[in-house]
Amino acid sequence: MTAKTLLKVAGLKVSYGGIQAVKGVDFEVHEGELVSLIGSNGAGKTTTMKAITGGLAANAGDIFYLGKPIKGQGAWDLVKQGLVMVPEGRGVFTRMTITENLQMGAFIRNDKAGVLADIDKMFALFPRLKERRDQLAGTMSGGEQQMLAMARALMSQPKVLLLDEPSMGLSPIMVDKIFEVVRDVSAQGVTIVLVEQNASRALAIASRGYVMESGLITMTGKGKDLLSDPKVRAAYLGE
Ligand SMILES: Nc1ncnc2c1ncn2[C@@H]1O[C@H](COP(=O)(O)OP(=O)(O)O)[C@@H](O)[C@H]1O
Ligand SMILES: [Mg+2]
Repeated sequence: MTAKTLLKVAGLKVSYGGIQAVKGVDFEVHEGELVSLIGSNGAGKTTTMKAITGGLAANAGDIFYLGKPIKGQGAWDLVKQGLVMVPEGRGVFTRMTITENLQMGAFIRNDKAGVLADIDKMFALFPRLKERRDQLAGTMSGGEQQMLAMARALMSQPKVLLLDEPSMGLSPIMVDKIFEVVRDVSAQGVTIVLVEQNASRALAIASRGYVMESGLITMTGKGKDLLSDPKVRAAYLGE
């Protein structure tokens, strides 16, 4: 039995002015998967994620979420439908406390008791956030802000969570923690698209992976198969 397709991108093209950053990308994500998208800096990964989640207009192609076309829909509408991105650079509300950031993540929900229970769940998943619940987000380290950004996204109860370079710029211990949490969240049933330059870590936890180069998908396969592929090892794992 094949799992349900939650997200499907077909022939996606995105330009900045006259420069085409995404040149015809196809990929799909099935229910329960953890799909990693790897590729060098400038390959077009962030552009692809922004086009999917309503932050950039596509020039061509189709985007289907839960079987329906979503091209042109705004980020807010998509969050309401369970398609949520944690952007590169995190984007937490720096002048709000941890708790206020988590409450903002639940802005689409009306179930107050459920929201409070989920804040407790986030504090269990990220004890560091609990310790600092009343601290302003802007005063936390990069790793702590990444944890907060992920927790805030989870507060909206996503079906599909897109994470754009969650490990970027973090210390090795924080990188470990972030990959551990990504795996936990996936194990809890959230479908994940993980964009990463840390190819070895991202492919090691992925059900499937895609390699993006110069605006195109050039390889795809099971995470483990890509990880052992000589071309991937040469280009992305420094071998
Ligand atoms: N706001 C922008 N204006 C013009 N060019 C951009 C902009 N953002 C990204 N680009 C270009 O688009 C290409 C893809 O960038 P990006 O999607 O950020 O790649 P990645 O996330 O894989 O590092 C790069 O050549 C980059 O320089
Ligand atoms: Mg990027």
